[in-house]
Amino acid sequence: MIRKLYPLLRSALFRLDAETAHGVAISALARLPHRSGRRDDARLATRVLGIDFANPLGIAAGFDKDARVPDALLALGFGFVEAGTLTPMPQAGNPKPRMFRLVQDRAVINRLGFNNDGHRSAIERLEHRVRTGRGGIVGINIGANKDSSDRIADYVAGVHAFAPHAAYLTVNISSPNTPGLRDLQGPDALDALLARVMPAREEAAGKLARALPIVVKLAPDIADDDLPAIIDRLIAHKVDAAAVANTTLARDGLKDRAAIEAGGLSGAPLYRRSTRMLARAYLLSEGRLPMIGIGGIGSGETAIGKIEAGASLLQLYTGLVFSGPRLIGEIKQSLVAWLEQTGASSLDQLRGRRAGDWASREP
Ligand code: FNR
Repeated sequence: MIRKLYPLLRSALFRLDAETAHGVAISALARLPHRSGRRDDARLATRVLGIDFANPLGIAAGFDKDARVPDALLALGFGFVEAGTLTPMPQAGNPKPRMFRLVQDRAVINRLGFNNDGHRSAIERLEHRVRTGRGGIVGINIGANKDSSDRIADYVAGVHAFAPHAAYLTVNISSPNTPGLRDLQGPDALDALLARVMPAREEAAGKLARALPIVVKLAPDIADDDLPAIIDRLIAHKVDAAAVANTTLARDGLKDRAAIEAGGLSGAPLYRRSTRMLARAYLLSEGRLPMIGIGGIGSGETAIGKIEAGASLLQLYTGLVFSGPRLIGEIKQSLVAWLEQTGASSLDQLRGRRAGDWASREP
């Protein structure tokens, strides 16, 4: 029903400030009865991170920061949900307003600054859903408190806190809204981070007697020359996948008045930059590091582009703001149509076939 109503709902939501509208959407999702939709076409199934996904399209981190509505999101047709970013202690984030729609550009700028209720309340919610028999793939995106004296310790705490409840964990070192956080992407800092996070993962996974994949989420603003060393460090530390990418600080070619706002830009204008970096990361990894392709997916065509650039899984957020939940079904249908056209039996066969093109485009 929500799929059909969204055009109406959108004009009401767009009259509200973007963050208020997001709150309304979360409350609505929490209240709506969620029946799971149709089964996905078997050709969309994929195995990544040792996990079987019914389809490769997930909701990106930041939409459901506090893990309030993972089951409603799964029922909308997403193959997986990434909740978070969650920090150990609750945190208010930056002063409002701090989230802006750029309607003319089909984009959003946010400088939320990891507002979230902290580990404990999310754990309670996740425990509840498991007790009530909810399945589905829920990953947790972990971060560090702004005022933490040992940020790496915050990530280690995230690994231990969410290990029992998360299908996988994403280490988010790429938000532009926590000063200094992106410095953790430098090769030496990455070494120091992973030298503590990966053993914590081993310890936690040992107790669970199952794998606990670790994904590292990167910024699309990493310089071309810096990327090889970063991919090299991720592979050396046996990270399970890279998520490419978070929001950008770049402001190329925007028309909307809100383009002057500070923060991270997402949506259509991020597509080219993030897909080019995805292709470069994919080629550098030589098949040793699966990629989650994120940034500006807003149609079947853009989703296909990410897979052609090298993505094993896809995530979106801003596309949902502008197109509503019908976008999920449209993307899945386009992927099936693409498989039929190409005669491929699975998306795996098509992955990366345009990575060379994408990687060599002008930035
Ligand atoms: C985000 N994103 C994000 N990412 C993350 O790792 N942790 C977070 O807490 C958030 N928060 C957040 C809030 C808002 C309002 C937006 C729009 C985005 C980034 C998001 O997961 C994704 O990487 C980018 O938005 C790019 O994808 P789209 O939106 O272009 O599909």
